[in-house]
Amino acid sequence: MKNFDYSIPTKVHFGKGQISKLRKEIKNFGSNVLLVYGGNSIKRNGIYDQVMKQLCDDEINVFELSKIDPNPRITSARKGAELCKSKKIDVILAVGGGSVIDCSKLIAASAFYKGDPWELVLDSSKITKALPIISVLTLSATGSEMDAFAVISNMETNEKLGMGNELLKPKVSILDPEYTYTVPAIQTAAGTADIMSHIFETYFHNEKGAYLQDRFAESLLKTCIKYGEIALKEPNNYEARANLMWASSHAINGLISYGTDGGWSVHPMEHELSAYYDITHGVGLAILTPNWMEYVLNEKTVDKFAEYGINVWGIDSSKDKFEIAKEAIKATRGYFEKLEIPMSLKEVGVDDKNLEIMAELASKRGAKYGYMPLEKEDVLNIYKMSM
Ligand code: NZQ
Ligand code: ZN
Repeated sequence: MKNFDYSIPTKVHFGKGQISKLRKEIKNFGSNVLLVYGGNSIKRNGIYDQVMKQLCDDEINVFELSKIDPNPRITSARKGAELCKSKKIDVILAVGGGSVIDCSKLIAASAFYKGDPWELVLDSSKITKALPIISVLTLSATGSEMDAFAVISNMETNEKLGMGNELLKPKVSILDPEYTYTVPAIQTAAGTADIMSHIFETYFHNEKGAYLQDRFAESLLKTCIKYGEIALKEPNNYEARANLMWASSHAINGLISYGTDGGWSVHPMEHELSAYYDITHGVGLAILTPNWMEYVLNEKTVDKFAEYGINVWGIDSSKDKFEIAKEAIKATRGYFEKLEIPMSLKEVGVDDKNLEIMAELASKRGAKYGYMPLEKEDVLNIYKMSM
């Protein structure tokens, strides 16, 4: 196990009715609040009203920035940064899924930056200060409610890039599983696939001796597998929504990656797909993951895949290890199919026009440094297997 510096500083209020803590938390940071949200979902399901009730206080001034797109755009972050500067914002309140929280993170950092916010996406070491962020999560998927990362899209340049800085970790997150009851089926499925992908990206590593992290990861995977299906069939099942929500935070907050050796493979490949075709992140991951698994299965990786098959899918350990690994990959694909995720890139509108350039960029921007290094040709082969 490698050395690490543990720091998961986000204070979490988890469960039904925890929105009642919001007013006090806001006031700990100041009085000028920028409320950031997406389309109309929080108005339709009543979360907006519950939040506004908490902000109804003579000492609190609320400014709003709405219409944050899924795959949040740099243009929204620019608007948010201007508002922070002109209205002397003290704290950002992000109410939504990963897109809203990610955009809020870039806004929080840009509030103290003189240049264009895109410069911070390109080089997050330029972030020296950030406004505090409070998140109210409405979709279990990205883990942005408890991590240091944001992923921002620039549609003019077909770039979707990740950034990360410790200063961007939300100070407080309110996680009420009931807030996810209205998440559409495809987003519930995509969110579950995204959580699972975060776990896979960490679980498939080359570090020896991170036994505890691997067992944590397997428990999280089993939680997703069990409750993803239930949440789809019964959207108002509290137990399912609660378990998915807590799994989403722990999949990426560092708990399972501390002490292992980093390097993600499938996310860099997916980010190029979203950048060029604006597809749903979790759907892209579900399509690519089983094909990536098949592609990287070899003498070197088979033991890890067999471990996955035995510990997560309960496959008979007396079988041949390649047989176990192949069964595990089949089970992974079968699970995403059960969640009714479209399982080919063609189905989500990806054609073969940009495969070469996407493969080159995906390799350069991360896939090269993953569990099994993927050069441009490897990524291209995986894209082709996924068509
Ligand atoms: O815009 P609204 O109206 O809010 O609707 C959203 C949106 O259409 C809807 N939704 C959210 N909560 C809802 C709801 N609809 C009904 N009821 C609710 N309670 O769901 C749609 C998708 O929302 P979005 O925030 O885009 O989804 P998600 O949370 O999956 O975030 C995806 C973004 O996060 C990035 C992705 O790349 C993508 O840009 N990621 C961020 C990461 C991070 N910060 O660490 C890591 C991830 O790997 C990922 O890359
Ligand atoms: Zn993800």
